[in-house]
Amino acid sequence: MITAPSFELIIGSLVQYGSTRGIVVAIDQQAGLVDIAPICDQVKAANNALLEISVASEVIMVDCAHLVSCARDVVQVQGQLDEAACDTILRATVRVGIERYYVARHQPAQQKPFTPGDRITYAGRVFDEQEMLKLGDSMLDFWLTTGRFSDEFERRFAQKLGVRFAALVNSGSSANLIAFSALTSPLLGDRAIRAGDEVITVAAGFPTTVTPVLQNQCVPVFVDITVDDGTYNIDTSLLEGALSNRTRAIMVAHTLGNPINLDAVVAFCKQHNLWLVEDNCDALGSTYHGQLTGTFGDLATSSFYPPHHMTMGEGGAVYAKSLQLKRAVESFRDWGRDCWCPAGKDNTCGKRFCQTLGDLPPGYDHKYVYSHAGFNLKVTDMQAAIGLAQLDKIDSFIAARRANWQALREQLSSLEDVFILPEPTKHADPSWFGFLLTIRDTSRLSRTKAVEFLESKNIQTRMLFAGNLTRQPFLATEHGRSLYRTASSLVNTDRAMTDTFWVGVYPGLKPGMIEYTAQVLHELVGRRP
Ligand SMILES: Cc1ncc(COP(=O)(O)O)c(C=O)c1O
Repeated sequence: MITAPSFELIIGSLVQYGSTRGIVVAIDQQAGLVDIAPICDQVKAANNALLEISVASEVIMVDCAHLVSCARDVVQVQGQLDEAACDTILRATVRVGIERYYVARHQPAQQKPFTPGDRITYAGRVFDEQEMLKLGDSMLDFWLTTGRFSDEFERRFAQKLGVRFAALVNSGSSANLIAFSALTSPLLGDRAIRAGDEVITVAAGFPTTVTPVLQNQCVPVFVDITVDDGTYNIDTSLLEGALSNRTRAIMVAHTLGNPINLDAVVAFCKQHNLWLVEDNCDALGSTYHGQLTGTFGDLATSSFYPPHHMTMGEGGAVYAKSLQLKRAVESFRDWGRDCWCPAGKDNTCGKRFCQTLGDLPPGYDHKYVYSHAGFNLKVTDMQAAIGLAQLDKIDSFIAARRANWQALREQLSSLEDVFILPEPTKHADPSWFGFLLTIRDTSRLSRTKAVEFLESKNIQTRMLFAGNLTRQPFLATEHGRSLYRTASSLVNTDRAMTDTFWVGVYPGLKPGMIEYTAQVLHELVGRRP
């Protein structure tokens, strides 16, 4: 039990917390921690269920049976409470509990200094109490589906990128699926992509950059990447050779944050009237000629899965500089509907019951008219709420990724004869997702030996995702091989599959982790750092 220093009580008037009656008590002096038992007894005696005590800038909320919480950051209230004030106070009590939980349960592990041998993960969620507080706020709303937090996130995220719209979805993979599907919309007339059309891409990377092409009955056309220059992106000298009279788009990722050669790709797309979809899932914050990636193509996508530049658990976004594709994107995301009313709203267009669309009877409710073969890939407000807190930190996250990458790059420069070290694409300032290393042909080291050694030292490693997609079980069958075309040798893609791995540079790395990773890589090749 907490012991009480002396304090003065002013018993306020009876208040109504929703259906619960209570008493507001203000304590004038900074009383610190107080023994609340006598007060509870008074309240019980007065037959009230709830007591709120405001101690200088601290608030103690007492349910007669249970002490709920106590901390700073709350308006002092005396007397009759209106609904808004009541809401503020009740939310504040939850916030206080969340803050305490964060400090007690998460912060100690986050603040524990690194000692060699501790796990060094390649990525992970980086958060503090702010993410948990936002999540708590949305939990209290209990709106659950898209709502005020997702609206705010879409607006702020679009603003941050300088794009006209951003549509939140439930993953980066969903974002890619929606982005590509939007290009098949009848709203685009002759420019709509149709089944059997071709899309130039690469086989070295994440599967769901490519699978939306297959899911729309179109044909991925694979060209090789460059590896010797340390950029791991589409080899733009192969674009011309990949072109056919069915080519309609290029859809590629900026590999681990390193932008593709956008000068060449954008010019090629313009020249041949192709759509460009940038998978920006690993590159949030990267720039090319000073312009953010994700703002060059017709559409771009982000992932908010925990290892990414910012997280909301599961989540993603589709965005564009032009509004032309907004309706198609939102319709494919929201069941394929023609109506654009937000959740819980009706008749925004004012024509809910007076249109005749498709073969439907005249005046059929616009809310139930479907103009696309859509999905439901919406995000929840809880996810968006976490995203808002992460968005406040994104600049510092990007800066930390760059600084960590740079430090590791410098500390590994003496291993250039063993590894191909990563290089930023010309004109680019990448917001790195990870640090790629390829074992040179001249080295006697094997990739398996390298990753096993690092993992044995508790340093987590990753492959360049799927390696060569055409060798993955879903494409390496007779049927699978009939689904794509290869427009060049994939010799470098194969090299990335057999000789490449990567380690992390994420903002959660603690002081000493980069140095230790560099030291272990030196040890691997029998050298001193
Ligand atoms: C380049 C790229 N695109 C798409 C995705 C898919 O994102 P999500 O995991 O959110 O579906 C990833 C996942 O890491 C990725 O790296």
